[in-house]
Amino acid sequence: MNSPDHIEKPNAPATARNRQAILEVLQVELASAVDVLEIGSGTGQHAVFFAQAMPNLLWQTSDRSINLDGIRAWVDDSSLNNVLPPLSIDVLENPQVGQTFDAVFSSNTAHIMSEAAVRKMFALVGQVLRPGGAFCLYGPFNIDGKFTSDSNAEFDRSLKEQDPAMGIRELDNLHRLAASNGMQPANHYALPANNQLIVWRRREE
Ligand SMILES: C[S@@+](CC[C@H](N)C(=O)[O-])C[C@H]1O[C@@H](n2cnc3c(N)ncnc32)[C@H](O)[C@@H]1O
Repeated sequence: MNSPDHIEKPNAPATARNRQAILEVLQVELASAVDVLEIGSGTGQHAVFFAQAMPNLLWQTSDRSINLDGIRAWVDDSSLNNVLPPLSIDVLENPQVGQTFDAVFSSNTAHIMSEAAVRKMFALVGQVLRPGGAFCLYGPFNIDGKFTSDSNAEFDRSLKEQDPAMGIRELDNLHRLAASNGMQPANHYALPANNQLIVWRRREE
């Protein structure tokens, strides 16, 4: 039987391609943050890379239960003391996280989650983000109802073939969700491969 000690570390090659560009934004946006919650950490590779590059930040991983062993394997193997083993967070289950953070980061999740799950993710971020804190969401997004590239249109088609609930989200809808959960647009970065990193900040109380 496999014990967590024998879990193979999962590999998502895309993380190696996008992590440097994301890091350069996070180093600016999270310059004064102390702790960050990541939603949908996936393999845990981003978490380990960002925690190593930003040693002043405490990085809290999380994901659905199916991914937790893999994330734990990456975190344990890193021997870093500023990346924490994953919390079990499925946004659809209205998780009670019980703590607040200076920042929330999530990568390539909004097009995988259903629209209902995206709404719940923004609600959770609204609950856990401290005033002034940043929500940094990376991925492909549509602008003014249009795909930003032919490759994103094709990607959207392939997602919907797998599951009609998946799909690239419209940025205006995300701005509305952010507003209804106490956040306002702060920054918008165009990154390689037709991806974007959107930053909202929680209003000061
Ligand atoms: C394409 S992967 C991205 C993983 C990682 N963030 C990355 O960039 O490599 C999508 C992630 O969204 C997570 N996810 C999907 N639905 C979710 C939900 N309801 N609650 C929390 N995470 C969810 C998946 O478990 C998975 O880790």
